[in-house]
Amino acid sequence: MNYIKVKGTHDFTGVDAEELNALQSLFIKSCHKYKYNLHYVPVMEYSELYSRSVGEGSDIVRKEMYTFLDKGDRSITLRPEFTAGIIRSIVENKMYATEVLPIKSCYFGTCYRYERPQAGRYREFYQGGVECVGTRGVSSDTEIISLLLDFFKEIGIKDKVFIKLNYLGGEETRKNYSAALREYFSGHIDSMCADCKERLEINPLRILDCKVSEDQKVVEGAPKISEYLSEEDKNNLNEIISYLNGKGIKYEYDSGLVRGLDYYSGLVFEMYPVNNPKAEGALAGGGHYYGLVSEIGGGDLEGVGFSFGAERLLTYIHELGLTLPSCSAKRIYVMPLSKECLSYSEEVASTLRDNGYTVEVDYSFSKIGAMFKKAERLAMDLGVIIGTDEVNTNTVHLKDLKEKEEKTVSKTDIVKEIEK
Ligand code: HAM
Repeated sequence: MNYIKVKGTHDFTGVDAEELNALQSLFIKSCHKYKYNLHYVPVMEYSELYSRSVGEGSDIVRKEMYTFLDKGDRSITLRPEFTAGIIRSIVENKMYATEVLPIKSCYFGTCYRYERPQAGRYREFYQGGVECVGTRGVSSDTEIISLLLDFFKEIGIKDKVFIKLNYLGGEETRKNYSAALREYFSGHIDSMCADCKERLEINPLRILDCKVSEDQKVVEGAPKISEYLSEEDKNNLNEIISYLNGKGIKYEYDSGLVRGLDYYSGLVFEMYPVNNPKAEGALAGGGHYYGLVSEIGGGDLEGVGFSFGAERLLTYIHELGLTLPSCSAKRIYVMPLSKECLSYSEEVASTLRDNGYTVEVDYSFSKIGAMFKKAERLAMDLGVIIGTDEVNTNTVHLKDLKEKEEKTVSKTDIVKEIEK
């Protein structure tokens, strides 16, 4: 029997695995600059956590969760997203009582959604993100956008993305708006898709996210949330917009953006590639939530957060022809010509590793031509050849494997020479 991977999952090997790791490291580094702390939560949670938080009306809960009964007949779900688990953990550990507010958590790991696999849409995928809990007003909203853009700057795509945003308002606004949508869609629902019929019952805001082309005319004619915003909502929205304008950040206000999870109120946003603003899947998305923490049992605390899809970011980075900074560390192949040169060669390798280079030592002591062939197959950048002459004269022989230039340099100057 041939074993194959589960549909919608993928392996990361070689350079791809290095890139995923580099993306994670760069993201966590950006988070630490804003004093976000790493927060690990289990991949498994009790299913009810998601139906209560992500919402019965969301596509995720209705059709995409990996849910099963464990041997004790408890309903368990593999996390479809991080926010609910992070908030559960903050509440369960009473972090809001013992830590300085806001609690700032960051995370990176796998998520599971039973979606139709296609480019950029998987059943197991990696998300990175942050949650800031115990915030008031919009300053944390703008701070997380700034953090996300700093991270995008690190990976070279800051000027290649733009933000779509909307403001869903507070509880009162959402209640009034939901009532207006329910009234409007009730008059059209007979001609709409089965999903929309169900959404009308559970959460009419979700109808605005309908992708069925026959329904678009009705959706376009729906009342706009901007007409229902309170004075406070409008002030908050203006504050966010003037922040973005002040920073020269490209954005588009989209009053139809509601996002696929039910817990949002206030700001919602998504990030798209500039060259593909209508891309089916966003690179990242997030927003503000008022009721989520209390829904999970943690009192009256607001929060805001975002998550990005690692595979989607890596695909976009490749499309742009970019390389992640820490993936560009030089790869050096050290070739001792005999066993007698080994300890000297290992000393050289250790100096190079201490200076951040990726180093492989060839222990085969085979013919130089065979070692060069291996170096080529491993896509190394630089060869360091060490024979008895080099050991006796305290030197190494460097060969640029791409440009084919070579020279002998003093062992103590090797890092300086390579950096040149
Ligand atoms: P989301 O929009 O469902 O939000 O997912 C965030 C990101 O995860 C998406 O923008 C996309 O890049 C990636 N993603 C989602 N589904 C898939 C998939 N099937 N395959 C590949 N990538 C995918 C959330 O999950 C919220 N928890 C974000 C948030 C954090 N809101 C507040 N805090």
